Amino acid sequence: MRPLIYAWPGNEALAAVLARELSAEIGQWTMRRFPDGETYVRLLSAPADRHVVLACGLQQPDDKCISVYFAASTARELGARSVGLVTPYLAYMRQDARFNPGEAVASRTFARWLSGCVDWLATLDPHLHRHASLSEIYSVPTVVASSTAAISRWIVANVADPLVVGPDAESVQWVSAVAAAAACPYVVLQKTRHGDASVAIEIPRIADAWRTRTPVLVDDIISTARTLATAVSHLRAAGMPAPVCIGVHALFRADALQALQAAGARQIVTCNSIAHATSAIDVLPDVARAAQDLFIKTVAPDTRAGV
Ligand code: R5P
Repeated sequence: MRPLIYAWPGNEALAAVLARELSAEIGQWTMRRFPDGETYVRLLSAPADRHVVLACGLQQPDDKCISVYFAASTARELGARSVGLVTPYLAYMRQDARFNPGEAVASRTFARWLSGCVDWLATLDPHLHRHASLSEIYSVPTVVASSTAAISRWIVANVADPLVVGPDAESVQWVSAVAAAAACPYVVLQKTRHGDASVAIEIPRIADAWRTRTPVLVDDIISTARTLATAVSHLRAAGMPAPVCIGVHALFRADALQALQAAGARQIVTCNSIAHATSAIDVLPDVARAAQDLFIKTVAPDTRAGV
């Protein structure tokens, strides 16, 4: 039987591309709040003897985790052969250490919980900084799609003479790959974070030959946008052309977009791992292909999706 996808509200585009890639059926289910605020979930399409895929981007995760848990548990209780989660944005990856005594290391705790909830996980560019890979913290099979190819294609098509700029040390992993694919140079800035919405950034000396290029800042997450806004201000103060800003995951806290515009960004675009007004780079096919790859190799090697 074809795999069965349950899609969360707002994940219809993801479900459609997954359905094509996995040759799956989009199932019916319902979720609502009881008057007391508790969550009700009902799987209307029967999951018995099916491979089940939950399509749910985990931005604002606290609103979604209980319904993911109820849907996954119910699918298992009702005889699903496997339950996977496809989330283009994987939450709780940034608190990846105990910086102060008593803090929850959310990345590990969340991974332990989610690994008990589903049998496999597919995502795109999780924030891997102090963890080298998802397998360090997730005990179920995981696959990571990359936005590098889609971002570099966008840069080549839209920016003449780009200089890719990473805002902080951990960005070197993606800016080096994006710059190589776009055949342009890159530089990496230095960031010190002082608080949730407070960062300091230093700019290294930029070679004279690169100073007339258009800076293209690339960050994996835009949340408060203080990282990119501060970087934009410094690049402008250093006499560089107005930067283009690219974010993979568009979390955008309430005032973030305005802050970034006010800093002097020439253009702000993001990938559609989280749908947003700035979404201009389609990465959902990359996510779906990665999910299909994991599904066929690890979850259901006896199944050839699409056949
Ligand atoms: C952090 O290390 C990430 O790579 C991003 O730079 C960060 O999450 C961006 O956050 P914000 O938009 O709040 O500055």
